[in-house]
Amino acid sequence: MSAAEREKWNGIYASDRQGERFSGPPAAILDWVLPLLPPAARVLDLGSGPLRQARPLAAEGHLVLAVDVAEEAFRRAGASPPGIETLVADLDHWRPEPAAFDLVLAVHYLNRELAPRLGAALRPGGYLALEARVALPQPGAGIPAHRLLPGEAFRLHADLRLLRFEEKADKDEGLGRYLFRRSR
Ligand SMILES: C[S@@+](CC[C@H](N)C(=O)[O-])C[C@H]1O[C@@H](n2cnc3c(N)ncnc32)[C@H](O)[C@@H]1O
Repeated sequence: MSAAEREKWNGIYASDRQGERFSGPPAAILDWVLPLLPPAARVLDLGSGPLRQARPLAAEGHLVLAVDVAEEAFRRAGASPPGIETLVADLDHWRPEPAAFDLVLAVHYLNRELAPRLGAALRPGGYLALEARVALPQPGAGIPAHRLLPGEAFRLHADLRLLRFEEKADKDEGLGRYLFRRSR
């Protein structure tokens, strides 16, 4: 990640109007996975932003490690409630502890280098939950690198079992939700 990209995110979170977009209600993928987690599950939230997923997880008694490169995300979030540990780190370089998490979560954060390693970060029986923008094929238009291609998530996580997914049109774009599980 470039310094310019980090500053872009810090600028977004420092701005009241733009930062508000990532401080709202949690993403719907959380409803898929919350009922499945064991008590006091260990959760890794990648590119967490200002904790909109981490807060409801911690409120259910889970232990969340929220990782984001933009320190302003955590400043915006204010004091972390019990159960949330925040870490400012660049996920292009930081690597998760192996077999340590009951859930790895990535909501609107795509890192194709890191993706194939996420299965190894899960405990046996652990879950990987993703929510992301998916590029809809449009004649003549290029596909932005930060968008998933339809079906790409299955290839990136071929080492895991797919439990549930949806890819659907949402506004002018696509939206994908995916839930995978590591075998026991
Ligand atoms: C679209 S926001 C999503 C934030 C949050 N997951 C949510 O759904 O509200 C993407 C987040 O990824 C973070 N990010 C981007 N590149 C990163 C990197 N290389 N390492 C860590 N975090 C990164 C940004 O700072 C930003 O908070």
